[in-house]
Amino acid sequence: MLALEAPLATVSAWLRRVRGARVLAPNRRRDRSESLSQGEAGASWVESLSASRCTTVVSDRTSYRLNASSEDTLLPVKISVITMFPEYFDSPLQISLVGKAIERGLVEVALIDLRLQGRGVHRQLDDAPFGGGAGMVMMAEPLRESLAPLADSHRVLLSPSGAPLTQSTLDRWAIGGPLTLVCGRYEGVDQRAIDACIDEEISLGDYVLLGGEAGALAIIEGVVRLLPGVVGNPESTRTESFRDGLLEEPQYTRPAEFEGMEVPEVLLSGNHARINEWRQAQREERTRSRRPDLWAAYVERQREEDAPS
Ligand SMILES: C[S@@+](CC[C@H](N)C(=O)[O-])C[C@H]1O[C@@H](n2cnc3c(N)ncnc32)[C@H](O)[C@@H]1O
Repeated sequence: MLALEAPLATVSAWLRRVRGARVLAPNRRRDRSESLSQGEAGASWVESLSASRCTTVVSDRTSYRLNASSEDTLLPVKISVITMFPEYFDSPLQISLVGKAIERGLVEVALIDLRLQGRGVHRQLDDAPFGGGAGMVMMAEPLRESLAPLADSHRVLLSPSGAPLTQSTLDRWAIGGPLTLVCGRYEGVDQRAIDACIDEEISLGDYVLLGGEAGALAIIEGVVRLLPGVVGNPESTRTESFRDGLLEEPQYTRPAEFEGMEVPEVLLSGNHARINEWRQAQREERTRSRRPDLWAAYVERQREEDAPS
């Protein structure tokens, strides 16, 4: 790999701070009996990374602010994930544009096994809820210990009680420095760990999943695609759903006729002013009919912009 030593030295320094935690490259076979002491985690991870000739899903290279101008400070984009199931991320972090972005060093992802901070021989992470009730609760201490070396990152807990994940949240995180995603399990997480160690709670939607891993993946994908150089044409991340508060218009490609349905004539006209007008009208109609919540906010914003100041 090009410039292997410098980036890996940086990774090593970063990971050495993740004390007592085992940081896995997802393409490495997982062995729960293996436990690395402070400092070793980073070093041996880097060795395995090196040995794998960077068919790796974890990498290090400086990446850039969204829409960076020459005056902008360059910020490394580092995402740490605290999870009981690092292997959950194996395939998604190796494929498609996220896999390529990691391989190219546009983003670093560290998977931190929460189980390492578990209590006793069984590395227990949960206990019965005070006050009784169904299910178990994730204990505060293992989470606090996993998060301790990541205190200067923005620590996000995936939780149905969190604020709904939106595009503007992802925009903020894509330029916001190191991000840590905490995946809950069980009935939930001891509130004291949340109060002490979490900066923000985020929900994937109004439904309940088994754990936070699917949400963490959604966030990684949403953040990574905003990084310069990840999506082929940066224009596509600027002209899509939610950017101006509207949904995207319908899309068409060849053939011009499919099962008797034709592409709207205007798209074949070559008249870009007409095409833009049509697209805007479609965006508005689609948002009005499908998402009254977004439409109301859009109309309100337009009204404010049009009001004399
Ligand atoms: C079974 S859920 C716990 C649900 C919890 N008892 C409740 O009613 O809100 C276990 C974990 O999955 C994750 N999770 C489940 N649904 C989620 C959602 N909609 N958004 C984000 N995380 C979710 C959270 O990390 C949560 O701690």
